[in-house]
Amino acid sequence: MFARNILLSSTLIFLLVIAGYGSCEDVSIHKRNGNDSIIQSSFSSRSFQYRGVALGGWLVLEPYITPSLFLEFNKTGGNESDIPVDEYHYCKKLGSETAKKRLEKHWSTFYNESDFALIKQYGLNMVRIPIGYWAFEKMKGDPYVQGAQKYLDKAIEWAHKYDLKVWVDLHGVPGSQNGFDNSGYRDIGYPGWLNKTENVDLTYKVLHQIYSKYGGHNITSEYYDTILGIEVINEPFSPKLPISDIKDYYNKAYDDGRKTQVINNTIVFHDAFKPMGYWNDFLSSYKNETNTTDIYNILIDHHHYEVFSAGGLNQTIEQHIKSIKDLSSDIEKEIPHHPAVVGEWSAALTDCTPWLNGVGLGSRYEGQAPYDNPKIGSCKDINNWSKWSKKDKVNTRKFIEIQLDQYESKMNGWIFWCYKTEDTIEWDFKRLVELGLMPQPLTQRKYIVNGTDTNTSSKNGSPTAPLNNWTIVLSSLLAIFI
Ligand SMILES: *[C@@H]1O[C@H](CO)[C@@H](O)[C@H](O)[C@H]1NC(C)=O
Ligand SMILES: *[C@@H]1O[C@H](CO)[C@@H](O)[C@H](O)[C@H]1NC(C)=O
Ligand SMILES: *[C@@H]1O[C@H](CO)[C@@H](O)[C@H](O)[C@H]1NC(C)=O
Ligand SMILES: *[C@@H]1O[C@H](CO)[C@@H](O)[C@H](O)[C@H]1NC(C)=O
Ligand SMILES: *[C@@H]1O[C@H](CO)[C@@H](O)[C@H](O)[C@H]1NC(C)=O
Ligand SMILES: *[C@@H]1O[C@H](CO)[C@@H](O)[C@H](O)[C@H]1NC(C)=O
Ligand SMILES: *[C@@H]1O[C@H](CO)[C@@H](O)[C@H](O)[C@H]1NC(C)=O
Ligand SMILES: *[C@@H]1O[C@H](CO)[C@@H](O)[C@H](O)[C@H]1NC(C)=O
Ligand SMILES: *[C@@H]1O[C@H](CO)[C@@H](O)[C@H](O)[C@H]1NC(C)=O
Ligand SMILES: *[C@@H]1O[C@H](CO)[C@@H](O)[C@H](O)[C@H]1NC(C)=O
Ligand SMILES: *[C@@H]1O[C@H](CO)[C@@H](O)[C@H](O)[C@H]1NC(C)=O
Ligand SMILES: *[C@@H]1O[C@H](CO)[C@@H](O)[C@H](O)[C@H]1NC(C)=O
Repeated sequence: MFARNILLSSTLIFLLVIAGYGSCEDVSIHKRNGNDSIIQSSFSSRSFQYRGVALGGWLVLEPYITPSLFLEFNKTGGNESDIPVDEYHYCKKLGSETAKKRLEKHWSTFYNESDFALIKQYGLNMVRIPIGYWAFEKMKGDPYVQGAQKYLDKAIEWAHKYDLKVWVDLHGVPGSQNGFDNSGYRDIGYPGWLNKTENVDLTYKVLHQIYSKYGGHNITSEYYDTILGIEVINEPFSPKLPISDIKDYYNKAYDDGRKTQVINNTIVFHDAFKPMGYWNDFLSSYKNETNTTDIYNILIDHHHYEVFSAGGLNQTIEQHIKSIKDLSSDIEKEIPHHPAVVGEWSAALTDCTPWLNGVGLGSRYEGQAPYDNPKIGSCKDINNWSKWSKKDKVNTRKFIEIQLDQYESKMNGWIFWCYKTEDTIEWDFKRLVELGLMPQPLTQRKYIVNGTDTNTSSKNGSPTAPLNNWTIVLSSLLAIFI
């Protein structure tokens, strides 16, 4: 089923290359074209196989991705309580002038054009770019500094130049939709987004600006096929926010997307931590198995990690492999109703990377506060390649291969989180390639062939009873910040 789609996509990419090259150097993405009719993007999410990376930690800070920015605060006093926990507090602590200076430096250096060339060389076809609302509009009293929008625009131009697609991802909204540091504002267990109507109003306003700017009639025709999707909000946390409110936002966000945009691109919805199949009836024209006509052009975005619960961490590699296969089979059942991807995943088999759980929080793997599970293993040397054992390397490669195998064959593809980091191995696509853990080409396999591990050595012990399936893993994900 997908082989045909891949062929179709490469043909379109080829046509785009021969038609569009050479003229893109100096174009701004916002020349008026004077054409208000709906333009059919060549890339509906049904016919596109996503092979992407997220540019995490660039336009929205995350301490574990760029710890150097945050360790600055520990230099003088050596008092860790001085370290800000997120971008909001980073800006607040520094004041707008200094924050602006440091963030400009980060924005202009963490990614540049060369990254896009390399991303293309690695066989990827798209990037997901997280951005915070404050890059467009601020709330009264917000300490955030603006300026990231310019870099999003540059990223779109670079992506176009190297024939990569872009999915713009509204990753942080006022008050925070999940309380995670990656929304810009960490408030553990307390997503304040829906508390004030001003928060929600500003979210619609910002999303509207994103639609008009990246899909409205001002966009130059060269970019029609570059912006393949807009994600209306990242990871709204339904365990703490009423799902009816989230659905209401999703419906209105969709309507505005179609009204405002002249490009018929994909509107992307995160699953809001609901079980697989939950969104089957949402904006679906699905009639029966023979008529799966897709008139809405939406995409459901599932995120999957196995390191945010003690149970998930305490699995053997055989159990991890089984859990990926079970998850993927359940996503496969959604496909007649709507296209779906695993829009975030990583190579992590531990939660050991410093600050992965947040500044000042320890790891479940070592059973550190605030977690109270028994220790599972040692985190020492997690980012020190020379200390990785053969078994660590084999298991990580297997975990990557099973995910590529399943996410390629059972759904519309995948987006690895994230392309690069300062220090990590498990969360860094580029470093994983350099270390030989990420297949190159992406189809190369050392261990997993068609969903089966061909290298089950008895040395590693026989698989224990399957204590976990993905449902358990996923529901424990909800306990990330507990
Ligand atoms: C507007 O776009 C449509 C769809 O691509 C095209 O058929 C039409 O010719 C365009 N009109 C103008 C004035 O460019
Ligand atoms: C902060 O500085 C103190 C004193 O130099 C050091 O002991 C501590 O490890 C530092 N914290 C981090 C997170 O690097
Ligand atoms: C760090 O700062 C906090 C809050 O200002 C204070 O309570 C604590 O005693 C300080 N710790 C050290 C080691 O100075
Ligand atoms: C991007 O940054 C890297 C690392 O600093 C540098 O080697 C490279 O030349 C830069 N590329 C461009 C196009 O500026
Ligand atoms: C904000 O909303 C949360 C639930 O999402 C609720 O627990 C809290 O009391 C609310 N706070 C205010 C000030 O409304
Ligand atoms: C579109 O272009 C017009 C004319 O340059 C400008 O006034 C308007 O603000 C632009 N709209 C958007 C959404 O960028
Ligand atoms: C299939 O379903 C779509 C959407 O409901 C409808 O527009 C279309 O006419 C149907 N196709 C056939 C062959 O009945
Ligand atoms: C599925 O729907 C189409 C029309 O949309 C119809 O022609 C076909 O008979 C239906 N198939 C089944 C098995 O109901
Ligand atoms: C938008 O795209 C979908 C899916 O590709 C398609 O079915 C629909 O007809 C398109 N709508 C318009 C107005 O072109
Ligand atoms: C996972 O376990 C739950 C509860 O035991 C069960 O309902 C579900 O069908 C299982 N899913 C898979 C994919 O095995
Ligand atoms: C991990 O699994 C082992 C063997 O099944 C068990 O003895 C241990 O208690 C588990 N540890 C945690 C933290 O769940
Ligand atoms: C894997 O599956 C594909 C498609 O079903 C098939 O063509 C191929 O022969 C299989 N490879 C192996 C080694 O079984």
